[in-house]
Amino acid sequence: MDDILTGASIPDSDYIIIGGTGDLALRKIFPALFWRYLDKQITSEFRLISVSRHLISLESFAKKLRPFCEDAFSRGKASENDWLNFFSLIRLIAVDITSGSGAGALVELVNRRVSLSRPCIYYLAIAPSLFGPTCNLLKKMDLVTPQSRLVVEKPLGQDGLSARAINDGILRVFEESQIYRIDHYLGKETVQNLMALRFANVIFESLWNNNHIDNVQITVAESIGVGDRAAYYDAYGATRDMVQNHLLQLVCLVAMEPPAHFSADQVRDEKLRVLRALRPMEESHVVRGQYIDYVKELDKPSNTETYVAMKLGIDNWRWAGVPFYIRTGKKLTQRASEIIITFKDQLHDIFTKSGDTPSPTQPNRLVVRLQPSEGLRLQLVSKQPGPGGMRLFPSELNLNFDEAFNERLPDAYERLLMDTARGNQTLFMRLDEVLAAWDFIDPIVGKTSNQEPLTYQEGSMGPKDNLFGSSGRCWIDPRMDEF
Ligand code: BG6
Repeated sequence: MDDILTGASIPDSDYIIIGGTGDLALRKIFPALFWRYLDKQITSEFRLISVSRHLISLESFAKKLRPFCEDAFSRGKASENDWLNFFSLIRLIAVDITSGSGAGALVELVNRRVSLSRPCIYYLAIAPSLFGPTCNLLKKMDLVTPQSRLVVEKPLGQDGLSARAINDGILRVFEESQIYRIDHYLGKETVQNLMALRFANVIFESLWNNNHIDNVQITVAESIGVGDRAAYYDAYGATRDMVQNHLLQLVCLVAMEPPAHFSADQVRDEKLRVLRALRPMEESHVVRGQYIDYVKELDKPSNTETYVAMKLGIDNWRWAGVPFYIRTGKKLTQRASEIIITFKDQLHDIFTKSGDTPSPTQPNRLVVRLQPSEGLRLQLVSKQPGPGGMRLFPSELNLNFDEAFNERLPDAYERLLMDTARGNQTLFMRLDEVLAAWDFIDPIVGKTSNQEPLTYQEGSMGPKDNLFGSSGRCWIDPRMDEF
């Protein structure tokens, strides 16, 4: 388990990507493996097996994949030789999951393992309806051993019931300790940094509660629309596509108690406690929106929300009375995601009372920028330099990770894929977390999905809402100058 702390090398492994020529594999999985190869975490001892329904040649696979790996070349990190050597690790085979035809070739390839203790990672980059049948086929072909691991990704169901059914199918073949459920937000650098910020520094923890924090805001804004994923998206909407997983995971990391150790189950136990402490949502605390052209793009009427904002309450000692405002949407002003912790005003303001200057209007804020320009900003109040009176002005400490580390930050998938080989489940969702998140989301969807969403202009920050009531709070938009 120490690997996660040191980023140490990983054991030689086999990655078997089922759905290996599909969108997820081309856009995310193989480019991530290529970067890990360039950084020498993947060595010539690895084998990367791409399983697809129809066989394609290595040449045409390389042609399809290359545009998604171009970044490495344009940064001067990859040469044509690297590309060829990386490709020498890849095998392509065709298997029909439903009929099992072609599975013999997979058995032959997988069983050509050098050592039986070598991790064998099955990544199901296919539709969730095929998860169960694929696991059954792997079992039938005797391809599941204690060293096997299974990686799956959302949508893990459309509600609690279907999530249970999908997971039952998997659990008939794999143990929970072998299953790696990806929420790619947990692989993002700044998201992990949130844990470092909270639990490796003493200065925040004593302030991290309802005595000192006024409210928490989480914004995950996207500038793109639903594009060619309209059919999937229309059946899910922002609440199920983004809140059930990514945003609730962010809430958990902000709100969880410190685990006794940074180990997979202890971290996940604490996140689970947060999910279970979420107060059932009142309808008036949910605002759903739809961008104006959505129905036109879809070419049929729809009540699906492309934007959702909520006011959450966490019913425990630490957070009682602290609202968590969360929002996410498509076609918003810009792609920008931030977590903003706003601290309470000081109880006694010596500056205004002394009649010197008006009190500064800005409370202390900690802003965690998740993307696209990762960093931290601590908003403070300082004295304006000069010999005059005690004039105060808002100032800030700004840590931009790109500048501070002067290196490319790895994509979430790179980290997560390496953790599957390390056997570290800390950044993956355990089944009880997934189900607890659905327990919270299902009633919200049930109450709101038939309602007509408010429309909003493309390029805005979503429809107007009244989530803040008369509290005097308001949404704090990500700052354009920083992105
Ligand atoms: C995915 C959602 O899980 O996350 C997409 O299905 C969304 O709709 C994407 O666009 C956002 O991820 P990121 O990493 O670009 O913020």
